Amino acid sequence: MQRGKTIAAATIAVSCAFVVLLAVGCSPQRGSSTTSTSTSTATASTGTGLNTYAASSPYAADEPSAPTDASGAGTDSQSTTYSSEKYIEDNTPKVTTLTDGTQIQLVPNDIGVSAYRGLDFMPSYNLHYLHADKRGCNSCHADLAQTVSNMTDYDHEDLTRCAPTQLTVQQCVDCHTWQLAYISEQNAFGDMIHQIHYTNHGDAFTSESGNCWSCHYVMSNGPTSFTQQSSAPGTTYAVEDSANTGVTASSSEWQLWDVVKHSVMRGITDIPDQTAVNGSFTWNQDKSAWNQPWDYNWRGPGYYWDHDRYHYQEEGVPLDQKVFDNWTITVSGCVGKEVTFTLPELLAKAPSVDTTKGLMCTMNPTGGPFFGNFQIKAIPLSWLVEQAGGYTDQAASLQVMAADGSHEDLTRDVFTQNMNEIYIVYQISGEPLRWESGYPVWCWCPFMSAGNSWKSVSDFVFSDTASAWLPNQNGWHKQGPEWTMDGNERSNSDGFFNKPNVGYLNVKEGTVIKTGQPYTINGFAHAFDLTVAAVEFSLDGGKTWTRYDTPGVDHTRIVNWSFTFTPPADSSYVVRVRSVTTDGLVTETPQELMLVAHSS
Ligand code: HEC
Ligand code: HEC
Ligand code: HEC
Repeated sequence: MQRGKTIAAATIAVSCAFVVLLAVGCSPQRGSSTTSTSTSTATASTGTGLNTYAASSPYAADEPSAPTDASGAGTDSQSTTYSSEKYIEDNTPKVTTLTDGTQIQLVPNDIGVSAYRGLDFMPSYNLHYLHADKRGCNSCHADLAQTVSNMTDYDHEDLTRCAPTQLTVQQCVDCHTWQLAYISEQNAFGDMIHQIHYTNHGDAFTSESGNCWSCHYVMSNGPTSFTQQSSAPGTTYAVEDSANTGVTASSSEWQLWDVVKHSVMRGITDIPDQTAVNGSFTWNQDKSAWNQPWDYNWRGPGYYWDHDRYHYQEEGVPLDQKVFDNWTITVSGCVGKEVTFTLPELLAKAPSVDTTKGLMCTMNPTGGPFFGNFQIKAIPLSWLVEQAGGYTDQAASLQVMAADGSHEDLTRDVFTQNMNEIYIVYQISGEPLRWESGYPVWCWCPFMSAGNSWKSVSDFVFSDTASAWLPNQNGWHKQGPEWTMDGNERSNSDGFFNKPNVGYLNVKEGTVIKTGQPYTINGFAHAFDLTVAAVEFSLDGGKTWTRYDTPGVDHTRIVNWSFTFTPPADSSYVVRVRSVTTDGLVTETPQELMLVAHSS
């Protein structure tokens, strides 16, 4: 059993004498309430055990004696933190050891944290009243990405693939709240989750003691924010910065436990000044540790080839070299002259680049898994355009077209600016493309979101008109009054859900780390068409942020960062991370990670 508190040597009882001291000490302030004062004094001094808590406490072991004079007051061992092996065991949150040896503790230790009753055998607030160990999606589903990806009645896109991030319910909410064209019903996630638990799986849910509070926290609505208890008894309470916790004045009182838990559990230490934890930061834009990109597997009628590719991949259909050998790429439309090459001709004649480039899905929720920097072998489109004699003044858009005629378009300003960064990719991580990556070729546009990187590409058509259909995807806009589906870009009315995107890699909520030893958290940041300028960390609930600049970021690759800090004491710490672009755009939903430091 892990413990967050130094245990005092002796086992000490909660005694009647202690009650006497409190009652007497308080009586002068109680004004006319003499009856109750004298009653409690009488009760305590007779030692009848009517103080039921003390008498029935399973932890009481000895009867401390009252001090003989004032100088003895407060020196009795009862005035030091109470300690009973059983008390500590009953009030210490569980630590689970995963198969890889990582220890996880989802609830902070809070023995002795209460400012008012820190020295007594009071039950853990987190465990006894909040039932924090029985709340939140992860109290029943160890891994939400697996829960969703393994649903038997719906073939959800696989959220376990690609980057090793931990899926949070906030990420479900990001994707499921407002996604015109991607999600059929807007703002309907809650009702769907209610039906899944109360109707589809009602018996299983109630047999696990599931109820409203398993997922929700209902707060008494304050004017603009709510308070967080500081962990050290006697220190002042901190007021959360509502802008950074997702808790706003207009929020419903019904919050998701997982979204507010770091602000309502006791035992989390705030650190405003990161020099106290020796914070340090490094970053690079190297290839990711994983070798293959995700696939969204659109299977609707408008995405005929995606449907086929998905099934070839699922069913293990072998790649066919003939497809590669006979594949042609044509550049046509508003160009000097139309040209067509087979892939073998291109490999023989055109320059091939071997480089690292990044892609991120336009709807990747903040902190989500759909991104990476990959080693690609590719033919630059610019070479083919040169062979075609360049594009003319009439070229208004570039249709990046798949062999089935579907296309995603780049507007003239975008393709002129980025012509040298458009790649016809034929190998990823030294291997031919997989079916689901668009075998034999996938056009990469790493200067914007992956939505424009069209698979199984066969044609580049310079058109004299600009299509209204989703050109230039660069992150997911929030719902706003000016929202529009046409025009050259979705309107930037109310900011983005996911730009700049930022998150953690290879670390789980509640990871147990060592007190006094540096711990390194890894993560990523990316801003699609914009450029990441800095990554910022807060260890005090979003009140203060420490900024680490990332000068010279190449926005066609993901930023990999590492943040190291040394937890000063046995406690829980919540690290919040957000990113900032060179244009000053700040991550809408900072990502939160609780780490629990133990000495042993
Ligand atoms: C008290 C336990 C409990 C909590 C808390 C809980 N679930 Fe569930 N959930 C269940 C049970 C039981 C099922 C039925 C299937 C099973 O046994 O896994 C289920 C099923 C699901 C399914 C459907 C799986 C399928 O195969 O159809 C999804 C999706 C899901 N939960 C998501 C969530 C999310 C998101 C949260 C947090 C907002 C959450 N659950 C919280 C117990 C819980
Ligand atoms: C990357 C975005 C994304 C994330 C993250 C995501 N979903 Fe989805 N989900 C979708 C899309 C897109 C659909 C299809 C919606 C449609 O057809 O309207 C979908 C469909 C579903 C469906 C089937 C119901 C339907 O709309 O047909 C369920 C259930 C579901 N998601 C649950 C979840 C849960 C629970 C989570 C989090 C644990 C989650 N999803 C996370 C994008 C996402
Ligand atoms: C398995 C998890 C789960 C359980 C159990 C559950 N809810 Fe929810 N509830 C959700 C999710 C998820 C949402 C959507 C939150 C969002 O979209 O931000 C939601 C949304 C809501 C909302 C809307 C809140 C808002 O801010 O708009 C209300 C009200 C609500 N639930 C009430 C209840 C009640 C009452 C119960 C018990 C009868 C209950 N819920 C049980 C998961 C759950």
